[in-house]
Amino acid sequence: MKILIVGGGGREHALAWKCASAARVSEVLVAPGNAGTAAEPRVRNVAVGAEDIAGLTRLAAAERVDLTIIGPEAPLVAGVVDAFGAAGLRCFGPTQAAARLEGSKAFAKEFLRRHGIPTARSATFTRESFDAGWVRAQTAPLVVKASGLAAGKGVVIAASAAEALATAEAMFAGRFGAAGREVVIEEFLAGEEASFIVMADGAHVLPLATSQDHKRRDDGDRGPNTGGMGAYSPAAVVTPAMHARIMREVIEPAIAGLAADGTPYTGFLYAGIMIAPDGTPNVLEFNCRLGDPETQPILARLASDLTGLCEAALERRLDRERAQWDPRAALGVVMAAGGYPDSVRTGDPIEGLERAAQLPGKIFHAGTRLEAGRVVTSGGRVLCAVGLGADVAAAQRQAYALADTVHWTGVQYRRDIGFRAIARERGAPA
Ligand code: AMP
Ligand code: GLY
Repeated sequence: MKILIVGGGGREHALAWKCASAARVSEVLVAPGNAGTAAEPRVRNVAVGAEDIAGLTRLAAAERVDLTIIGPEAPLVAGVVDAFGAAGLRCFGPTQAAARLEGSKAFAKEFLRRHGIPTARSATFTRESFDAGWVRAQTAPLVVKASGLAAGKGVVIAASAAEALATAEAMFAGRFGAAGREVVIEEFLAGEEASFIVMADGAHVLPLATSQDHKRRDDGDRGPNTGGMGAYSPAAVVTPAMHARIMREVIEPAIAGLAADGTPYTGFLYAGIMIAPDGTPNVLEFNCRLGDPETQPILARLASDLTGLCEAALERRLDRERAQWDPRAALGVVMAAGGYPDSVRTGDPIEGLERAAQLPGKIFHAGTRLEAGRVVTSGGRVLCAVGLGADVAAAQRQAYALADTVHWTGVQYRRDIGFRAIARERGAPA
């Protein structure tokens, strides 16, 4: 079986590594991949961009690819699955219509409300319909979101109504391009976040292991929001009772609602959940793809063949599948370039990768490329060092032993990934 993975980040390195480990898989192509996928056995990078839909369909047809898995949201929102379907090619992911759940936060909020799924109270505005009076009447803090895709940067937590007004104005004025033409403003929700990711086949759902991301750049959840600085799995905050509640109140109504609306959902579906102090699982966002960096620890624990699960989903028989999980915890530490997330420096040679390869655990590459035979940085999030262990504390030790072996000028990473779970393991009150 030949597999194509679309994308070039840490999530895609983990997908390629996982798929290449299946006995039935002869080769994994990655478009475009990175220096990590280039070095992976049975994996080959192809110089086709993740958003070049025509190029990707040509590649899949020419290489007789049996199954394509899309990593990032942009090609999904642009309709890559529809294009593959029209060309008779098998591609795991939601159609353009179903991917609107991520592509338009305005659409997602309206969908959540219509299907009675818990989420923050909100209003959606265009520049023309903007109601400053409504904003002033809300209790701060307020969360202001560009409705369209903004590479994880389109969410601003405003401490006052005045700041919310100024933020909305900046978005209308083009701060996030077309993504800010519509703006969602919502109440700030307190609680603990968890990432709840499932596979769906249009009708049935197979939940993946739970995880928790760390969105802020600095220790103690301080500093600017990022794409994610580290994640671990499982997330103890999602107790068995909470798991059942999220399935019943969020995932099942979402999948049923999409089918009832005429846009059945096939693919990975990621619900970002804020668990309120009273236990309500509020949806912060939907993503139409796997999370990055959540995928790295999740796939490090997946014992089942992922390609078989994707195939089952494409054949609408996910209800007959079960995923097997390594009972150990996995934890991934994102190593970022200097200046991340604002102005990133690139081109720095990365030292210590050979030594790290001798240690237990796994380093997934994200923003890396090969330059004259050397691995150099080429993006904000550069590597993700994943460790496994009997509990989150042990997985954390293994992950940091790996991370501490690797160095480049300006490297930065959090020292406290997993701190909430480790406090729980030590018996601190949740
Ligand atoms: P989103 O892209 O919508 O998930 O937002 C990015 C991050 O902003 C989330 O992971 C949360 O940490 C935070 N966030 C988003 N919406 C809210 C909200 N209503 N209340 C509190 N925090 C939020
Ligand atoms: N780690 C958050 C995301 O993938 O959106």
